[in-house]
Amino acid sequence: MRARRALLYMPGDAKGKIEKAARSLNVDSVCMDLEDGVAANQKEKARETVVRALQALDFGRSEKLVRINRIGSGLEAEDLAAVLPHRPDGIVIPKVEDGGQIDWVSEQIAAVERANGWPGGHIRLIAIVESAIGIVNLRSIAAGHPRLDALVFGAEDFAADLGATRTRAGWEVFYARSAVVTYAAAFGLQAIDMVFVNYKDTVNLKIEALQAAQMGFSGKQIIHPAQIAPVQEAFTPGDEDIEHAQRVLAAFEQAQARGDGAIGLDGVMIDMPLVKAAQNVLERARAAGKLPPL
Ligand code: COA
Ligand code: MG
Repeated sequence: MRARRALLYMPGDAKGKIEKAARSLNVDSVCMDLEDGVAANQKEKARETVVRALQALDFGRSEKLVRINRIGSGLEAEDLAAVLPHRPDGIVIPKVEDGGQIDWVSEQIAAVERANGWPGGHIRLIAIVESAIGIVNLRSIAAGHPRLDALVFGAEDFAADLGATRTRAGWEVFYARSAVVTYAAAFGLQAIDMVFVNYKDTVNLKIEALQAAQMGFSGKQIIHPAQIAPVQEAFTPGDEDIEHAQRVLAAFEQAQARGDGAIGLDGVMIDMPLVKAAQNVLERARAAGKLPPL
């Protein structure tokens, strides 16, 4: 799966921001928004702007995604009909409440893939879980749709749905945030963390992104170019982490050959869970292009 360390939104009617993202930002994923970043009376214009961007712009190494309006909004079918023929790399579905909604979007995509003779499954799906019912139904959402790559946690909508107040510490969303990362891992999906809305505060952004990486998230949603570097860095293992992971794996291999299950390295016990953690570090490094693919 491709790395999605940072997923940058911009309103679908913000032509300049889309052009800037395609031309010069070099972010892992660019997500042109048709949903809440667009005013109700600009939906049509946003669709047209996104279609033109998909037709005309070269996004370089960045993944090009479109966030459609929620299933049941009355806008979702037209959103898909407008953008799919212009072959985005993926569709982001907001406010997902059950797995059936993912099946429905996937069927719309499959029909367009067939009609154009494109390989089936090429256009990927990313599901945002951001309501109480979405968290309750995580199992059905995460369960094995072959087109689904990632679960995203949306904290602002989730807190609003709960009647909770957002705080810097974030305990009001901690259960849901943990649930998303756990279900994603259980079903082999990427987990992408919440937006940090104070886009001028990159110090606390970095702290929150590192915490997300420690929780097992593979990336974070972002809303401003200043957030790209700190977030992509937070989800990229450092040279020291990579070197340590390689030492752990080498020491473990030697121990296995000797018939030892657990060993000491630099005063720390190394056994299977730490080996798995070291493998995860190397996998992230490969996804970020810091190590050659296997
Ligand atoms: N994507 C691409 N470019 C962006 C951007 C984004 N999300 N946010 C800002 N920029 C660009 C600006 O256009 C500006 O470019 P320029 O210097 O070439 O003119 C530059 O980055 C600096 O922007 P700045 O002046 O600091 O911010 P702003 O006041 O223009 O915009 C926001 C602030 C919050 C409105 C803007 O960041 C934004 O639209 N974010 C995304 C909102 C969104 O999509 N929400 C829905 C999903 S949660
Ligand atoms: Mg939302």
